[in-house]
Amino acid sequence: MIELLPSILASDFARLADEVHAAEAGGGTVIHVDVMDGHFVPNLTLGPPLVKSLRKHTKLPFDVHMMVERPDDFVAAFAEAGANWMSVHYEACPHLHRSLSLIREHGMEPGVVINPATPVEVILPVLPMVHHVLVMSVNPGFGGQKFIPFSLDKIRRLKELRQELGLTFRIEVDGGVDAETIASVVTAGADLLVAGSAVFGGGHAEQQARLLLELARK
Ligand code: DX5
Ligand code: ZN
Repeated sequence: MIELLPSILASDFARLADEVHAAEAGGGTVIHVDVMDGHFVPNLTLGPPLVKSLRKHTKLPFDVHMMVERPDDFVAAFAEAGANWMSVHYEACPHLHRSLSLIREHGMEPGVVINPATPVEVILPVLPMVHHVLVMSVNPGFGGQKFIPFSLDKIRRLKELRQELGLTFRIEVDGGVDAETIASVVTAGADLLVAGSAVFGGGHAEQQARLLLELARK
């Protein structure tokens, strides 16, 4: 099933609950939450208190994308705050199996993320234990960047691997997904589509989410 995951990074934080409601009304089904620490990526965003506050305003699952060093330190706090899915970067986790296990032990769905320059093959050993693989189609840290076309090859490769290995993980794509690129990521095999600026950028989140979903499901 194709799902749209509005990324609140591009929303108006002062009106966060309203922004989420608008994206939900337009068909968004999972809320993507970008956590940045100023070390793993050169930007700062938000932490568990924001997830806790927002939890009261929506029943949609929260997909927390950890762009931090030592994500294990924050697993319990995000789980308590009400996060549902958590993805950690291959590049930030020297003990990736431990990190993914910890996420599951805390009742969240674990996902592994790979940066644009990281090949799919390095995450082969953990594919059986993840709920989703997140393919970064921009270098993480900022919204509004341009989609990197070779990400499509990685999505296709993951889809093949899933079939060959008889697995069920979902394939998520994040970065530069907009009206121009969304059809190509779906054709390549992604089914969880993160969009930040394309949903929240123009001030009409409901209509923009609806349009993206129409283009994705064509
Ligand atoms: C970037 C974040 C993305 C970001 C995507 O590091 O992981 O989730 O919000 O923004 P757009 O959709 O504008 O590329
Ligand atoms: Zn993200």
